[in-house]
Amino acid sequence: MTAGARKPWGGRFERSVDAFTEEFGASLPVDQRMAEQDIRGSIAHAKMLAERGIISDQDAEAIVSGLSQIYREIADGTFVFDIADEDVHMAVERRLIDLVGPAGGRLHTARSRNDQVATDTRLYCKDAALGLARAADALRGTLLRLAEKHSGVVLPGYTHLQRAQPVLFSHHLLAYFWMLTRDVARFRSAYEAADTLPLGSAALAGTTFPVDREAVAKALGFSDISANSLDAVSDRDFLLDLTYACAVAQTHLSRLCEELILWSTGEFGFVTLDDAWATGSSIMPQKKNPDFAELVRGKTGRVVGDLTSLLVTLKGLPLAYNKDMQEDKPPAFDAIDTVADSLRAVEGMLATMSVHEDAMRAAANGGFMAATDLADHLAARGVPFRDAHEIVGRLVLTCEREGRTLQSLTMAELREASPAFGDDALEAVDIDAVVARRTSAGGTGHEAVSAQVVSAREALDADVAWRESLGG
Ligand code: ARG
Repeated sequence: MTAGARKPWGGRFERSVDAFTEEFGASLPVDQRMAEQDIRGSIAHAKMLAERGIISDQDAEAIVSGLSQIYREIADGTFVFDIADEDVHMAVERRLIDLVGPAGGRLHTARSRNDQVATDTRLYCKDAALGLARAADALRGTLLRLAEKHSGVVLPGYTHLQRAQPVLFSHHLLAYFWMLTRDVARFRSAYEAADTLPLGSAALAGTTFPVDREAVAKALGFSDISANSLDAVSDRDFLLDLTYACAVAQTHLSRLCEELILWSTGEFGFVTLDDAWATGSSIMPQKKNPDFAELVRGKTGRVVGDLTSLLVTLKGLPLAYNKDMQEDKPPAFDAIDTVADSLRAVEGMLATMSVHEDAMRAAANGGFMAATDLADHLAARGVPFRDAHEIVGRLVLTCEREGRTLQSLTMAELREASPAFGDDALEAVDIDAVVARRTSAGGTGHEAVSAQVVSAREALDADVAWRESLGG
């Protein structure tokens, strides 16, 4: 018997692939992680075949018990994955036939690896989307707790990385909370994109057997069946959606890590990362490096590349299945794994870091961040805003030259700059008052932020309820 004849497709082959082509063509190292999904799909398929009288009940029972044993072998690590099996589908089927004989050979009736791999990948993506949402929710919870714990703490808000206007630290943290809220919405929509059953499409054209696709969808927890067999076996939009959601989430984490890196420098000194979330230098004894934050930032390039890779893989493919599509899983799985790890790392860093409220306040008092409010004070008293801007700009210049802050200006100095300054002008430069005045909805004023905390909590609770309704 030739090696080609050993393969499930070996019948029409006289010569076998060699060791290199066998390995080159295999996806087993990548797709073996879908073994659980493959077995679930096969059990549902076998039961439906028996239900429809396509195979006997005895055969279906033998198949289900064999698959259950394989499931246990995989769980306890005794299952032998052999590269000669090419992919997880053939590995499971080969073992099934070893275990239960010819009944195992009936499992592949009315099915192709094309609809099988699409089904497994969708099941995997649904689980992954829920897992990513769970990890994102853990980080959102930590951001919310920190926002509540450090309420009232003021730090500089930046534009162009120059101090701009003071904001509450809670407000700054919640900005990331909302980014992650949108990430969870994207994971959810990727979940929904994956929630359609392709099985029953067979290789590309459907099957001659009287299959019950709705029953399989129900058994596997899909809310719908695909409408077109060609589309079903070649559609990877759900993978694109999930990988895109991953790329955006990783980009958000990268931005947050960039801030942690800046904040933990001696120059900023706003936070100190816990020892467990930093590393030292092999030469410079004083160093404490934010390696893990840098790694999250660095891995972002990979995840963005994963999305590009998947898009480019799909762009030239004619209908229906093409082997190129086997290249869909390495980037998608890499994106899922990287974002899952990064969410966990960022949560760990935030939950354990020390926050230096005094350093934040000191930085907020520098940088002339009350200048807009001082100009607003003049504008409210009838001075055209352009003139007010000019007057305050000159005061800033004077302070800068003399190494002073706006808060150190006296009433006499203000009046000298413009007689329009009112008696309460100095209140305009008090940093806490500057923050408190931003009462617009979604602004950084204390009350607006308290309202934001309440809506953040509601948004988180709603997302947790969604996950839990799906067993995630
Ligand atoms: N390992 C393959 C993949 O990941 C499974 C589908 C193979 N189908 C085929 N006709 N060769 O895409």
